Amino acid sequence: MAKGVLLTDFLESNSDIELNKVLLSLAEGCKIIGRLINNAGITNILGVTGETNVQGETVQKLDDLSNKILMDYLLASEATAGYLSEENEGVVTLNENGKYIISVDPLDGSGNIDICAPVGTIFNIVERLSPVGPVNDADFFQTGNKTIAAGYFIYGSSTILILSTGNGVNGFTLNTENHQYFLSHPAIKIAERGKIYSLNQGNIGKFDDGVKNFVSYCSENDKATSRPYSLRYIGSMVGDIQRTLIKGGIFIYPANKGGLKGKLRLLYECIPMSYLAEQAGGKGTDGTQRILDIQPTELHERTAIFIGSKDLVDKAHEFLKG
Ligand code: AHG
Ligand code: MN
Ligand code: MN
Repeated sequence: MAKGVLLTDFLESNSDIELNKVLLSLAEGCKIIGRLINNAGITNILGVTGETNVQGETVQKLDDLSNKILMDYLLASEATAGYLSEENEGVVTLNENGKYIISVDPLDGSGNIDICAPVGTIFNIVERLSPVGPVNDADFFQTGNKTIAAGYFIYGSSTILILSTGNGVNGFTLNTENHQYFLSHPAIKIAERGKIYSLNQGNIGKFDDGVKNFVSYCSENDKATSRPYSLRYIGSMVGDIQRTLIKGGIFIYPANKGGLKGKLRLLYECIPMSYLAEQAGGKGTDGTQRILDIQPTELHERTAIFIGSKDLVDKAHEFLKG
């Protein structure tokens, strides 16, 4: 690895100028978001706006601010044709001549801001399908196999961009002195064998027996397979996925009993995270198929997700099959 590689140096090896424009505008916008979060308690931007978004969820002031900042910066990139966000009901056209469209969760885990737990910005980038002009919903109905680049910015003890453009996963830590992103986590690989499981155990009664049996398996005593595994759950997908990428394990948000969909959204949470997981040698499924194979039909559709170390996702599938 070249010493002291900055994000800007790293992207120079990527000849797609248009994609670099989108990524660098995202990186600049997320510097602002990170600073707002670090100072939230001082600048009275904690708490809620009083509105409810298309998901029927309470909008945090920082959800709204993050969304606006990202649209401004991506508009300035000139390479971004369209924008889909958890916080907007419909798609937004930014640059009619842009090559790429982006699906974004402007602030994931925003319920955690008030307790200073990790939150983040998740993104997935594909090429538009329609020719120049306004974008439409159909532009966004592409499977994760069409992803050109995906990643997230995690605002935690440091701000880190976790990024894949199709050749593995790299992490860039924001240097708060010179405001540059530095290649701090080259070539991230998810441990083949995980020893951590992550889900909202409080919902266990709502889940199918297969999930319950897998969770019992994880908590059984068996030295030979290093069980019981540890249960870790942050309640921010970016935080739980960051731990899964770095330490291995499995993160699960299943559907409720008899249901098909979980809570997490396909286009701007589960596809980008599954793209990263696969690029890092792990897996991301909905319990039966790869997340990246799911054909989206609605902008804010949800899915179940089982993501992380290969061995644990495979083990979970054994229990789901019954
Ligand atoms: P968001 O803040 O973007 O709405 O996402 C919250 C999601 C995700 O970050 C996390 O994994 C999940 O909600 C936690 O859900 P529960 O509180 O139901 O466990
Ligand atoms: Mn989210
Ligand atoms: Mn969100």
